[in-house]
Amino acid sequence: MKFFVDTAEIDAIAELNDLGMVDGVTTNPSLILKSGRDILEVTKEICDLVDGPVSAEVVATKADDMIAEGRKLAEIADNITVKLPLTWDGLKACKVLSGEGKMVNVTLCFSANQALIAAKAGATFISPFIGRLDDINIDGMDLIADIRTIYDNYGFETQILAASIRTVNHVLESARIGADVMTAPPEVIKKLAMHPLTDKGLETFLADWAKTGQKIL
Ligand code: E4P
Repeated sequence: MKFFVDTAEIDAIAELNDLGMVDGVTTNPSLILKSGRDILEVTKEICDLVDGPVSAEVVATKADDMIAEGRKLAEIADNITVKLPLTWDGLKACKVLSGEGKMVNVTLCFSANQALIAAKAGATFISPFIGRLDDINIDGMDLIADIRTIYDNYGFETQILAASIRTVNHVLESARIGADVMTAPPEVIKKLAMHPLTDKGLETFLADWAKTGQKIL
């Protein structure tokens, strides 16, 4: 499974990228607000740092305006993925921009039918939002599983990008189901390395080592 990091914070991206953990980046208008940066400047910096796809989201709501914004965002770098909302206008823009050879991430997906229609419109990535479904007491993992089944049934090449990931279990379940990509905040990616038995075991080893009185260096 590819790992995208869901943030516009350069330092956090750089730290994970140095460890080889970053296959791409996703941003959205809320993450740009949180960064306090200009969208064009910060997105360019991210694209320079990371080799993989970097999603930058349009904010227009009419297809023609989305297409114009998408073209402008795509000029930032070759690895830009234009992020479009899953609306009828967004699908029109998806068809046009993907037809021009641009990568497109169709976002705010909350149903398998939405994912089906995004694939037919030529989406490179579909972003089902797991956490926001869980927030309203609907199991977001069922959506990932349904999309996986439907895409496999018909051989759609659109990649399932599990989004709105809030917990390490979301990552595990997405991997079990076979999501192609997951995007998560840096703190969730770091938590993947944690286990209380690792901490406890290390504590014991270090206490025993101290009793030996030895040194390695
Ligand atoms: C994905 O591309 C979105 O930016 C993101 O995953 C949304 O997550 P949230 O629901 O935690 O805001």
